[in-house]
Amino acid sequence: MAETIRPAQIRVCEPLLEGRESVYVQDCLKTNWISSKGKYIEEFEKGFANYCGCSYGITTTSGTTALHLALAALGIGKEDEVIVPAFTMAACVLAILYTGATPVLIDSEPDTWNLDVNQLEDRITRRTKAIMPVHIYGHPCDMSPIMEVASKHRLFVVEDAAEAHGAEYYGKRVGGIGHVGCFSFYANKIITTGEGGMVVTNDPKIAEKARALKDLSHSPQRRFLHTEIGFNYRMTNLQAAIGLAQLERIEELAERRRSNALRYNSLLANVQGIRLPVEKKWARNVYWMYSIVLEDTFGISRDTLMAKLAQHGIETRPMFIPMHRQPAFLDQGLFKSECYPIADDLSQKGVNLPSGSGLGANVDFVCAAIKEIAAGK
Ligand SMILES: Cc1ncc(COP(=O)(O)O)c(C=O)c1O
Repeated sequence: MAETIRPAQIRVCEPLLEGRESVYVQDCLKTNWISSKGKYIEEFEKGFANYCGCSYGITTTSGTTALHLALAALGIGKEDEVIVPAFTMAACVLAILYTGATPVLIDSEPDTWNLDVNQLEDRITRRTKAIMPVHIYGHPCDMSPIMEVASKHRLFVVEDAAEAHGAEYYGKRVGGIGHVGCFSFYANKIITTGEGGMVVTNDPKIAEKARALKDLSHSPQRRFLHTEIGFNYRMTNLQAAIGLAQLERIEELAERRRSNALRYNSLLANVQGIRLPVEKKWARNVYWMYSIVLEDTFGISRDTLMAKLAQHGIETRPMFIPMHRQPAFLDQGLFKSECYPIADDLSQKGVNLPSGSGLGANVDFVCAAIKEIAAGK
């Protein structure tokens, strides 16, 4: 008889909205500033850009639209190619396709799970316009060699920092290292606005272009005159009000994720067959998702572990399905017969454990359950 699965009591990620979120949202409601103009938009854009070491921040409706907006603001379109890791979330490839450009994949490093910089130059062609490094699960990419290759070949670097708010590369916060950085503020991210995103940059021209494009590209001379194809990617003041309150606590929220990870690392260190996430000596990993990879010596498959953890009321997620395995992209004639063994391996054996900033002592409960399952109890 099939065993019943209890609803999860420990979720993969839950937001912590314990600061001034409701005060600021109430203020929007009381003052009628509920649409995309208002002081919270301005304060959130300035504050978050500044946190990333950038002069300009342009809020958007999501991380996906932030990526699309950034690529569009750089003038990327048909005939162009953008290099992106095979092991990532589909939004990266979707954003490239929205511009009409072609995504070109690259495999990952086995330890950080980020794009393998040693494979970069082999993928560059005369059509390449940009590289999109993705800071997977909160660990920064090795940005210096990426920036060197980009400058040698005159390419843009569009950082996808959706999962890595506050992560650092040699002490520099991600998002502010490439030409443009893109963030998501979905509810499971380190800080959230419910739905939302932001493009950050230090380049005034890119910022101006992105700001125009996100608001339908009204002509500066005459409102309702449009000389370019723009989008409505406007975040609301209500969302930015939540974002600003979250931003006030961003370091605390990131540090809580880091202390979850330290606790997981120490409790799982001696469990046979579990590969733990790394933190390179030059990195500050913010562990957006605390993830492990199961080797054969663990004794049971990733999917079995997930099912058994669900019976303990513990929610988990499998790692991403790589881009060359997505029917939607294969149907477009993309990535046919391409091979990315590290991405495939992670996809089959990797699992995201509960990772929210409010997890606290539940880490011990999750680790005890994993050990019990591994021991066959
Ligand atoms: C790496 C990466 N890029 C982009 C996105 C898209 O963000 P959103 O869901 O806000 O559109 C996500 C979402 O989780 C992501 O993980």
